[in-house]
Amino acid sequence: MKHKKVFQCQSCGYVSPKWIGKCPDCGEWNSFVEETVKDRDLKKRSTEPIKPIGLNSLQITTSDRLSTGIGELDRVLGGGIVKGSLILIGGDPGIGKSTLLLQATNNIAKTNGKVLYVSGEESLTQIKLRAERLQVSSENIFLLTENLVERILECAEEQNLSTLVVDSIQTVYTEDSVSAPGSVSQIRESATKFMNFAKSTGVPVFLIGHVTKEGAIAGPRVLEHLVDTVLYFEGDRGYAYRILRSVKNRFGSTNEIGVFEMTEAGLAEVENPSLIFLSEHAPTSGSTITATIEGTRAILTEIQALVTPTTFGIPRRNFIGVDYQRVNLLIAVLEKRGRINLAGADIFVNVVGGLKITEPSSDLAVLSAIISSFKDIPLHEGLVIFGEVGLSGEVRAISQTELRLREAARIGMKRAIIPKSNLERLKENFSLKIKGVKSINELIETLSI
Ligand code: TYD
Ligand code: MG
Repeated sequence: MKHKKVFQCQSCGYVSPKWIGKCPDCGEWNSFVEETVKDRDLKKRSTEPIKPIGLNSLQITTSDRLSTGIGELDRVLGGGIVKGSLILIGGDPGIGKSTLLLQATNNIAKTNGKVLYVSGEESLTQIKLRAERLQVSSENIFLLTENLVERILECAEEQNLSTLVVDSIQTVYTEDSVSAPGSVSQIRESATKFMNFAKSTGVPVFLIGHVTKEGAIAGPRVLEHLVDTVLYFEGDRGYAYRILRSVKNRFGSTNEIGVFEMTEAGLAEVENPSLIFLSEHAPTSGSTITATIEGTRAILTEIQALVTPTTFGIPRRNFIGVDYQRVNLLIAVLEKRGRINLAGADIFVNVVGGLKITEPSSDLAVLSAIISSFKDIPLHEGLVIFGEVGLSGEVRAISQTELRLREAARIGMKRAIIPKSNLERLKENFSLKIKGVKSINELIETLSI
């Protein structure tokens, strides 16, 4: 078999025949490393005739999901683990990936049988110490410290497993690739082997992957198209809260989140995230509450803004948890349409609790927080605000209004400001006092501050 030398971007997997400084695909600098790839062996193709299968002749069994025993994890997976699926869990080092999987492993092993936990990173003693801390005690958990994929699979095939965990994909390598462990082609080929194992045996496989900065080791992003489900752990290590988000799921809805808290005894589920995110909310100026949709549920969270006069020349703009470009655009709309002059002001916006809001439905709440801080007057207590804002200052309708209002009512909010067009279309009755607004001028009026 022939080997070919190419240069491959360690961040996105782009292949180039010669070294280049900046990846034309993902824009990463200095990410190309020389790798050896095999030419595909075309002779291997099977000569047997192939036949398609009639769609109606297929039978589906519904009980093909295993519960992890952790409600939040099950939900993010779309209702448990699908047999034979390949699941990637990514996140910064130290965020809690190994902890979560060891806890899940314990529950799976207790109810479904043998689990093999392969660690290429930690020694057996380290895993045992963590297991003791987490009170993981199932007799069906087996450990393996091995880096060679072929040997791991050899061992996995012999056992009658219910689940296989590989911690981490960056530390394993296959003999079929001549590139260094951790490089893009190694990661891809190793993951393909695990996928074939999962599909042929029906054993679900979890792959843990570190997301590293500077592309020192290939990021698990190159695997996203290959695996069935991609979960990312978000959250600052400084906070106790961790958010597990599904960014791809062939068996469930994406953008679903699970909220956890890192405690002395491992990760604890947070079943009522709205209450947690609002637990320290005080009705001060610059603070608003909005309702965002994360997957299939609505979550209420606090958005804070601080508007202060600029002391040195250029105004500072610092936004955490919301899109930078989007908030700058909103500020411009507020200046032009709402006639509030913010040119000489430093503006800071923060989403409390480490949540990242990607929906434009938070526009109205962000603006309300900025207006409230600018005027230094707090908003009404128990007020939830959501709606999208357009360039001419108009407030636009958003989706799933009822879901948001239901969650707001459930946790005891008293009033809501929502887009007028959404209010007109409401079918349910709510205990909240709801006000519809059409433009940001109406918003400023309604806030009555
Ligand atoms: P870990 O699961 O090892 O992270 P990862 O596998 O993503 O690299 O988590 C490590 C961090 O979690 C470490 O900083 C210690 C902390 N931790 C707790 O706070 N409580 C616990 O019970 C455990 C096991 C870890
Ligand atoms: Mg780990």
